[in-house]
Parts: sequence; structure tokens; C-alpha cells
Amino acid sequence: MATEIPGLSPQIHILRGGEQRLLTDIGRVDPTSLDSYRGLGGYDGLERAIAKLGPEATIAEIESAQLRGRGGAGYPTAAKWRAARSADDERKVVVANLMGADPSALGDRALAEGNPHLVLEGLLIAAFAVGASEAYVAVRRDWTLAIQRLRAAIADAEAAHLAGYLMLGTDVSVQIALWEGSGALVAGEETALLSALWGDRGMPLIRPPYPTETGFQRSPTVVQNGETLAHAAWILAHSAEAFASVGSDASKGTKLVTIFGRVAEPGLIEVPLGIPLMQLLSTAGGGIGITKALFVGGSGGGAIEAGELDTPYDFEPMQAAGAVIGLGSILVTDADVCMVDTARFFVDHSAREACGKAVPCRIGTRRLVEALDRILAATPRPDDFSLLRDLSRKMRDTALCHLEARAPGPMLTTLEHFPDEYRAHAERGVCLAGSCDTATLPPLLAPLSGVEPVA
Ligand SMILES: Cc1cc2nc3c(=O)[nH]c(=O)nc-3n(C[C@H](O)[C@H](O)[C@H](O)COP(=O)(O)O)c2cc1C
Repeated sequence: MATEIPGLSPQIHILRGGEQRLLTDIGRVDPTSLDSYRGLGGYDGLERAIAKLGPEATIAEIESAQLRGRGGAGYPTAAKWRAARSADDERKVVVANLMGADPSALGDRALAEGNPHLVLEGLLIAAFAVGASEAYVAVRRDWTLAIQRLRAAIADAEAAHLAGYLMLGTDVSVQIALWEGSGALVAGEETALLSALWGDRGMPLIRPPYPTETGFQRSPTVVQNGETLAHAAWILAHSAEAFASVGSDASKGTKLVTIFGRVAEPGLIEVPLGIPLMQLLSTAGGGIGITKALFVGGSGGGAIEAGELDTPYDFEPMQAAGAVIGLGSILVTDADVCMVDTARFFVDHSAREACGKAVPCRIGTRRLVEALDRILAATPRPDDFSLLRDLSRKMRDTALCHLEARAPGPMLTTLEHFPDEYRAHAERGVCLAGSCDTATLPPLLAPLSGVEPVA
């Protein structure tokens, strides 16, 4: 059941039925009122960290909760905090990543609009744990309501001495600044984000060194996804055990997932990590019976076919299946959706969003799109299928960032699972899904003896 939450952007629908911890508060808390947030236990976690635990025990709490980053990589949050804390430099920085690189994933935006203090509290806890007195909220510029809410929340938290100078009557001070960045796929990659924050072009850097060693203005920096920070605040308020009581062996807690496409009701749901995809869909009320494939993880993800819906929605199982969790989006398709055309859509998105720094990415993504266009137009070159595979491998092997390494994913996975759709388009100009306009194509091409069978 989708619920309209008053005061959120109209495109954000909350689906009920999942685990509902962060989302419940999105519906319950008044995002414009600090009192409302405090009334639900808000800033108790920060208070506990500062007044009771201290930095080391705060990190230990996050470690025992086994919190993994929700920005895509699933990296252990405590390890990052510890690395930055133990760096020699006096100045440390923390950054909330609300760049929303995947525009179809609405979790971070819903949090920023619906419960901005929760993200800020997580950021303040991170800053305290790391020993940073500087914090940035990097948010994509077109999330205007989120920006408005976050700005007001920062001002209210400062006025209440929960942020800023001498917080909660202690000698802990954390200044928060909000920074608006251009919304682009690569802009959310942490090294590109830090470059842009510094006033440079938003392009990724070679890692290592990692930002926890050399980050913003060369100071050790923790970049953390907005949802990760929200979970951190929840953990400090409710305990590591409560958090770790849901989720899988490898990944504890919940994840905000945006489901759209051929579903009865598109929207945002919070589910335990490790939930089988089939169960995730039924919890969200998706049309399981007619599902053909799920595109999991946006343009850096991949297609998971209907027969694999028992796969757990978790970092490693998704990767093993050729997809990624990414920022938590799932596109549901049915029999009437062309897999070649959908793959082309995603690869084209990556090509358009590529920053241009790495040549194999800039040129490679474009060449993939051109080959897919030839296949879709029934005018393939004899080596187009081997080009798709060889080029993908080279891009993965030479990648500067994951945009490049992962861009071929939607194409490679559909090629693997739906080779007949590629062949029918390439050899006969026929869309097996019936969704592409093939009326203008040559009626029947001579058999392409040179086209390699799909592996
Ligand atoms: C192309 C690309 C785009 C990304 N976009 C985002 C983003 O919009 N938001 C985000 O939190 N992480 C994004 N990431 C991941 C970040 O680089 C980084 O891993 C993350 O912010 C770390 O936070 P976490 O440990 O809490 O996940 C992106 C990564 C890549 C390769």
C-alpha cells in the first residue's frame, strides 16, 4: 500500500509493509520541527555518544552493529571512522553524501525531506567519533525541498546547541555547512565529490590513497551516504543489538529500496538486507506473476531474471548475480519490455554522464551504445557481439571509477539471460518483446553468418 506523506515531493510514495524503522519516522516526524524530532527520541543517540560513550566506544558500537555503507560499496562504516580517527592530522572532515547519483533511487531524498535531523544527527555522531570539527552536507542542487529542510534543520540544531560551537554544553564543536552540487552520476563518487566540494571539476581520482587518508583539502575525510548516517543515528539511539537483529549474516539492518516499472504501485520501502527478491517484491505489492527481469542497482547494476528471484537482496549475492545494490533502485520489467532496448537505455545514461576523464570510459561507453543501436536497427557489424564483450572487459580492467567498470553491466547481464532477444533484433529486425518500433527496419536481412553466437 502506497501512502502519500504530506510535505514530501510528490514523486516520493512510501510503500508500507517492510521493516519500517526509518520510514515510519518519515511519516511520523514533522520534518520542519526540531521539537517533533526530539519528541521521538531525536538527538538521544548524539547525546549518548558524547556524554556517555566517547569516540572510541561510539565507533565500537557502530562496529558491533556491523553497519555497512548504503552508498553502494557496502564498506564497513566503523573501519572508515577508525581509519580517519587514527590518522595523524589534526584536521579531519566528514561529508554526508546526498548527491543522489541514481535519479531513480529516492531513499536519500526521502530522508532529507522527511527526516532531515536524522541525517544531521548521524553526521554529527560521525564527526564526534572521527574527531572532526568540520562537516559538510553535499546535496544535489535540484532537491530543492531537501535543501530547504536541511538548511532549516541545521539552523535549528545550532540554535539548540546540538550542532556548532560547544555542543550539549561540552567542549565538542562541529560546524556543519551545506553545499549544493550538480546532479550527475559521477558527482556522487566520493573522490569526484570531494574535488567538486573543493571547487575543482567533479572528476574521480585514482584510489588509493583513500579519502580517509587524503580527502577534502588533503585532510583525512569520511564520506558517508545519507542513509548510512541515518542508520548510525538509529544505532546510537536504539543499540547495536537492535540494529543487528535484522538483516543477513553478512549485512545487518535494513535498506531503503525504490521499486518502479511494471509494478502495481511504485514507491519506496524499507526491507531487511538479505531478503529474497521475490519476498521483497511481494512485500512491496509488486506483480510477481508477470515479472520478466529486475534491473537492480540502476545504470551500474544488472538484470536478474525471473528464475533467480530467490537471490537474497544483499551486497555479495547481488554482485554474484551481475547486479549491485547501488543506491537501492529496482526496475521491474515484464514480458512486454525489450531487454536490448532497456540495456541500451542504461548504457546510454552512463555514456552521457561519464565525466570524460578516463578515455576507455568516455569512448568505450559511446561505442557500446553505437553497437547496441546497430543491433536494435538490425544493421549489426559481424563483430558487434564480440566488441560488446571485449570492450566491456577492457573497460572493467582499466576503470578509474565504478561508473566505467559497471557501465556494461545491464548489457552483459541481458546478453547472458536473453540472447534470443539480441539475435532476433540483430538478425531479423524483430523485437521479441514487441515493444520496439521495428516498422521502419528492413523486413528481413540476409543471415549474418559472421555474428558470433552469444555465449
Ligand atoms: C559513479 C558513482 C556514483 C556514486 N554516487 C553516490 C551517491 O550519489 N551517493 C552516495 O552516497 N554514494 C555514491 N557513490 C559511492 C561513493 O563513492 C561512496 O562509496 C559513498 O558515498 C560512501 O558512503 P557509504 O560508505 O556510507 O556507502 C557513488 C559511486 C560511484 C562509483
